[in-house]
Amino acid sequence: MKQFTKLADVPDREHLIERAFECKHSPHAWRTLGNGRILGMVFFNPSLRTRVSTHRAASLLGMDVVAMTVGADVWTLETRDGTIMDAAAAEHIREAAAVMGRYVDVLGIRAFARLHDRLEDYAETVLERFAELSGVPIVSLESATRHPLQSLADIMTIEQFKRYERPRVVLTWAPHPKALPQAVPNSFAEWTLAMGYDVVIAHPPGYELDERFTNGAAITTDQNEALDGADFVYAKNWSSYRDYGKILSQDMRWQITPEKMALTREGYFMHCLPIRRNMIASDAVLDSPRSIVVEQAANRVPAAQAVLRTMLESL
Ligand code: CP
Repeated sequence: MKQFTKLADVPDREHLIERAFECKHSPHAWRTLGNGRILGMVFFNPSLRTRVSTHRAASLLGMDVVAMTVGADVWTLETRDGTIMDAAAAEHIREAAAVMGRYVDVLGIRAFARLHDRLEDYAETVLERFAELSGVPIVSLESATRHPLQSLADIMTIEQFKRYERPRVVLTWAPHPKALPQAVPNSFAEWTLAMGYDVVIAHPPGYELDERFTNGAAITTDQNEALDGADFVYAKNWSSYRDYGKILSQDMRWQITPEKMALTREGYFMHCLPIRRNMIASDAVLDSPRSIVVEQAANRVPAAQAVLRTMLESL
């Protein structure tokens, strides 16, 4: 596997999931595979889970890790060509990415959508430029449009907890005070549909996601109808794709509460975290035995380990 930025980069999805469970059950079985190899991780945005779980995954494989926060411990980067660099950015991505490619064997990049220009965000400029200029395999640590390491961990979690062969998996919009990207819901839809689950997406009017990600899902603006008989409830906020980056609703009736969970088939509650309590979901939901958000986050380690293991084998 030469890069891991989207589902289409994965030659054999089932095999990767199988490998992720192998890593979960035997995390120390490949501890010398990455000896002498370095993982570089570049963060344009904050992170807890992705930063620590991917670091741990690389360490379990014997890799060394260098994590860099753009604008803090490495220079602020200019990503556009042809600009006169008389503002805040001290270094251009052309030099920075090429130099990083000489220092590390695999490069992880976190670069969120800026939510100003849909075309620019959906072109994945930052990720594409690092891939082009660094010359080393790229792992997305969440890009403008997708979060595949999260999705792989989400699939592991559903496979771990499911009681029916084809579970009803509901992705529901929930309120949040800030405008958030569509990367997690896009990616979740992409992976769960590929798995053949019964996928339902619920959101208020105006929050339709890009159809390239949601084709094949049942889509509704009635959250209660969606939750009826659900096996998994994946709550997430996102800003509008159509009215790009805008908040169109903060309707608290979309918050996941025990009453909403009671509509499900003893369903589990999932969220990628970080979560705003009593906005997206109530304390009572998050503190209930139906919440599997911590196990979901724990699965980020074997998910990242399976991806890095597969990449190391093809270096
Ligand atoms: N879910 C997730 O990616 O968490 P972080 O933003 O903390 O990495």
